[in-house]
Amino acid sequence: LRDRDMKDIKVLITAGPTREAIDPVRYISNHSSGKMGYSLAEAALKRGAEVTLVSGPVSIPCPGGAELISVVSAQQMHSEVMKAYARFDMLIMVAAVADYRCAEISPDKIKKNGDDMTVRLVKNPDIARELGEVKGERLLVGFSAETENLLSNAKAKLEAKNMDMIAANDVSAEGAGFDSDTNIVKLVKRDGCLIELPKMSKRDVSHKILDEAVMLFKKEIKE
Ligand code: PMT
Repeated sequence: LRDRDMKDIKVLITAGPTREAIDPVRYISNHSSGKMGYSLAEAALKRGAEVTLVSGPVSIPCPGGAELISVVSAQQMHSEVMKAYARFDMLIMVAAVADYRCAEISPDKIKKNGDDMTVRLVKNPDIARELGEVKGERLLVGFSAETENLLSNAKAKLEAKNMDMIAANDVSAEGAGFDSDTNIVKLVKRDGCLIELPKMSKRDVSHKILDEAVMLFKKEIKE
């Protein structure tokens, strides 16, 4: 049924964490392994899509057949995505982008001088939000990583970032979220439709997300 149903669809996927440098040897980051985004890339490739991954630093291999654009920081991910998005039909934002970066990056390794130290952070660009403003006919799918108020936070992000669908995962639940091989996801669509998926491998979650994304995309084309 799903065989090659994404033929001729171009998909851009962000994946993995970003790293925000403090000095030449230290950074701020998060636990994203890239598994969720890379699974989606692999699933879309199997269905015949053309896939580009814009990925932060991960230790898993890029699925064969995908184009890989490697980045480190949120600002780099932002600039690569904004350069590329126009030639894609579907934009799937899986990356765990750091919301803040260091206001100043020390050119030298910071010395252990005092009993405490302060790092001032400034806001990073919100890639998904910017895409929501310029997406036009493109389908924008996001993720929502939450530890509380899963559905209300996810719905607020869907609205604020003008997404067509958001995959909400409670990243504090066993078998869900960061680094796990499985995930537990609720899919919220713009029309309010809610699909609650049980715990599944990230591969199976990816196909469920793509089933809905392809349906929304084909509906949009017809209208
Ligand atoms: O990589 P894994 O180990 O497999 O883990 C998977 C995952 C937990 C990272 C993934 O399932 C997930 O939830 N990804 C989204 C993580 C996140 O940053 O969520 P958020 O709720 O903070 O952001 C909401 C949406 O905006 C996301 O689509 C995010 O990619 C996007 N965003 C956020 C901030 C920002 N500056 N730019 C963005 O594009």
